[in-house]
Amino acid sequence: MKIVVIQGPNLNMLGIREQNIYGPMKLEQIHAQMKEVATQNGAEIEFFQSNLEGEIVDKIQECYGEADGLIINAAAYTHTSIAIRDAISAVSLPAIEVHISNIHRREEFRQKNMIAPVCTSSVVGFGPFGYHLAMMGMLQIMNEIKAAQEAQAQQQA
Ligand code: DQA
Repeated sequence: MKIVVIQGPNLNMLGIREQNIYGPMKLEQIHAQMKEVATQNGAEIEFFQSNLEGEIVDKIQECYGEADGLIINAAAYTHTSIAIRDAISAVSLPAIEVHISNIHRREEFRQKNMIAPVCTSSVVGFGPFGYHLAMMGMLQIMNEIKAAQEAQAQQQA
């Protein structure tokens, strides 16, 4: 089981940028915690961060046939990127979007979300802990898929 975590623009600045909104944790610390949980649950995990829309699209496409689930914070591209939305839709993998801040309580331009409609679920406004919640959610989704596949195999046997 492989989970790919994709981080959009400026998330490499976590711990420096607007700490009143995003908190003091660095991206590496968030990823270290996620890796620990993944390892405990026998899941492989890969992390990718880019400030470039096309690179994020390429990474999502690479996940096709390679990964079992995506956790994505598309950051500012959440509000603008039809390309990232189409890529998520194209690979049709379970995808959980994360936002550290509660985008619903913020500026008007953050109210538009191109990504959420093509994701399985969203985790919003829990701070960096949202990534942990997304991991738990993804592990649950993976377990449910596995159970459904086993039940189907048993029926066919
Ligand atoms: C964000 C919210 C976005 O609106 C913003 O552009 C980000 C981070 C969040 O995690 O809260 O860069 O995705």
